[in-house]
Amino acid sequence: MKQISLGVFEMLNPNNGLPTLSHPQNRTATWDNVDYWTSLATTLDDAGFDFLFFADTYGYPTIEGALPDAVVRHGIQFPGLDPMLMISALARATRRLGFVVTSPTTVERPYATARRFASLDQYTAGRIGWNIVTGSSQATTDALFGTGTEQSHDSRYDVADEFVDLCLNLWEGGWDDDAVERTSAAYANPAKVRPTVHAGTHFAASGTFAVAPTPQRTPVLFQAGTSARGRAFAARNAECVFIQGQSIAQAAKVVAEIRAEAVSAGRDPAAIKIISGATVTVAGTAEEAAERRAELEAQYSLEDAAVMFAGFTGVNLVGVDPALPLTEIGGLSSNQGQTLLDRYVRDGAPVPTVGEILGRFRLTALRGFQITGGPEQVADELEAIIAGTGLDGFMLEPTFGGPEAFTDFIALVLPLLRNRGLYPPLPVGGTDGEATTAPTLRERLTGGAARLPQTHPGSRFRGGPLASTSQSPSPAREA
Ligand SMILES: Cc1cc2nc3c(=O)[nH]c(=O)nc-3n(C[C@H](O)[C@H](O)[C@H](O)COP(=O)(O)O)c2cc1C
Repeated sequence: MKQISLGVFEMLNPNNGLPTLSHPQNRTATWDNVDYWTSLATTLDDAGFDFLFFADTYGYPTIEGALPDAVVRHGIQFPGLDPMLMISALARATRRLGFVVTSPTTVERPYATARRFASLDQYTAGRIGWNIVTGSSQATTDALFGTGTEQSHDSRYDVADEFVDLCLNLWEGGWDDDAVERTSAAYANPAKVRPTVHAGTHFAASGTFAVAPTPQRTPVLFQAGTSARGRAFAARNAECVFIQGQSIAQAAKVVAEIRAEAVSAGRDPAAIKIISGATVTVAGTAEEAAERRAELEAQYSLEDAAVMFAGFTGVNLVGVDPALPLTEIGGLSSNQGQTLLDRYVRDGAPVPTVGEILGRFRLTALRGFQITGGPEQVADELEAIIAGTGLDGFMLEPTFGGPEAFTDFIALVLPLLRNRGLYPPLPVGGTDGEATTAPTLRERLTGGAARLPQTHPGSRFRGGPLASTSQSPSPAREA
């Protein structure tokens, strides 16, 4: 059995998902405090987790352009702070933990994005990854930024392909590895620094990347969103893909599809790590765990679920007769994210009613596998999922909001995964404060080198001027 990767899925808002305001373990009072996050990051670092992932969006749920009262009253992905600005503080408090942070290609600019991630790569000593998204809550974001014109779902991904190419050209192409000298005569050798030129459909840039090579240069490239166009984007660009597995059969299909697309894109299918979200409710016994899960489900309201669903999909089911089958309200399709909608409409499955959709969304929202049980049971289930799907790891989702879902997992499940050889032991000097040489996030997740592998299309920008365009990447050339 292969060793898995483990991360945690978080958002910098009052509730990661549906509100849990009235539960004693909520994080209403602490979520916007830096100490809350440094404490969580330290806990994960000491336990040996691979990474802490921050999902993020400028948007928030709206219905037909208006902000529903429930969003403000219950803190449904609102308000929110910028997680990227938190990463340096977290890196300072930890030694080995990696950080993955979301940044959208819809409203950001390539040069600024490349510079921010290169800076974070330097500040974290190579422990940074970029979750590249084409954005959720797109209508809200467009209105906030005054862009006004909603692009089509697939064309947002076309822009994203070119955005990533330009960033890769900046990171990989601008500087030779040995360009920096730091002597009394020269900071760097001008013969080993060159301009990047990009003339594409959506972006144009020409100039020299003003960041010298950092430990990984290119942050580890993550992608989330499994629409057909999303998968093609992942096959071309991603080193890791986040999915939200629902069942072994569904996740196995998604994993197989992503790997097949990678082959079509000329990449090694094993070079793409696929990691699923999982909400684990674990306690000393199965009965206690079931009670905790019931306590959690009692927190979730149908009203909040309907508001959040509308925000993600643009499909407004608030106040719609729950008995109506989906076909009667025009079906489910959206110019916003498709992945969530695909959960409810499957080939061959009966058409769900509005009530069934909201009933299911209330319990799982956008989350991955829902796993509840005693320690052995949870470990068995995780092992069966890995064996049955070809997944490479999990990202744990919080339950009541605070850190308890993770600390329970660390105390009760992690030792079992280690005993079974599914997760590596802590490195020597792990918890006693001794300095250890930390691997970069790429080394840790892929077992390979710190730099983007030669088999990734981005490596074609290495070793000399190569103008990037909006064309498909050609095969990697030797550096
Ligand atoms: C596990 C997971 C995490 C995601 N995280 C974010 C995020 O942080 N920010 C965001 O705007 N979208 C996020 N998304 C949405 C997608 O990345 C994607 O941009 C959106 O769903 C549209 O693409 P799709 O139609 O391929 O799903 C996430 C999706 C998944 C499955």
